[in-house]
Amino acid sequence: MSDLRRVLVLNGPNLARLGRRQPEIYGYTSYDELVDLCVGWGRDLGLEVEVRQTNHEGDLLDWLNAAADEETPVVLNAAAWTHYSYAIYDACAQLVAPLVEVHLSDPEQRPEVFRHTSVVTPHAAAVVAGYGIDGYRMALEHLAGR
Ligand code: DQA
Repeated sequence: MSDLRRVLVLNGPNLARLGRRQPEIYGYTSYDELVDLCVGWGRDLGLEVEVRQTNHEGDLLDWLNAAADEETPVVLNAAAWTHYSYAIYDACAQLVAPLVEVHLSDPEQRPEVFRHTSVVTPHAAAVVAGYGIDGYRMALEHLAGR
């Protein structure tokens, strides 16, 4: 059993294509590199970080439900689901430990109006948006500092 505090970093649809998907918006770091970075940042902060990604909304709901039961802090980039999934709104509402919302880009500054709404923000202890991959480090720092 590890002494490190456990944190889940959960990523929604299309984020496995990081580095290849619209790099001018989301950057050139690959998803695998993001996983390694998050685990390393976590270790430095005394956190045991597990990073997951899914294109299937039910997976994310199951992970959030388990995080609620286990009282695990969550860093969440729900990607496009952020903007319209009331199921994710409800799943986030029941979390017990802190939730930090992360986006690589800053959705509020982007031209598509649908990106200006977040179902995650009402339940988030903090929102980090527009800092690229570094935003995940900031989110983990936030959790480590609590
Ligand atoms: C995103 C922003 C969302 O609007 C978009 O649908 C994504 C990624 C981000 O990290 O900037 O897939 O969450």
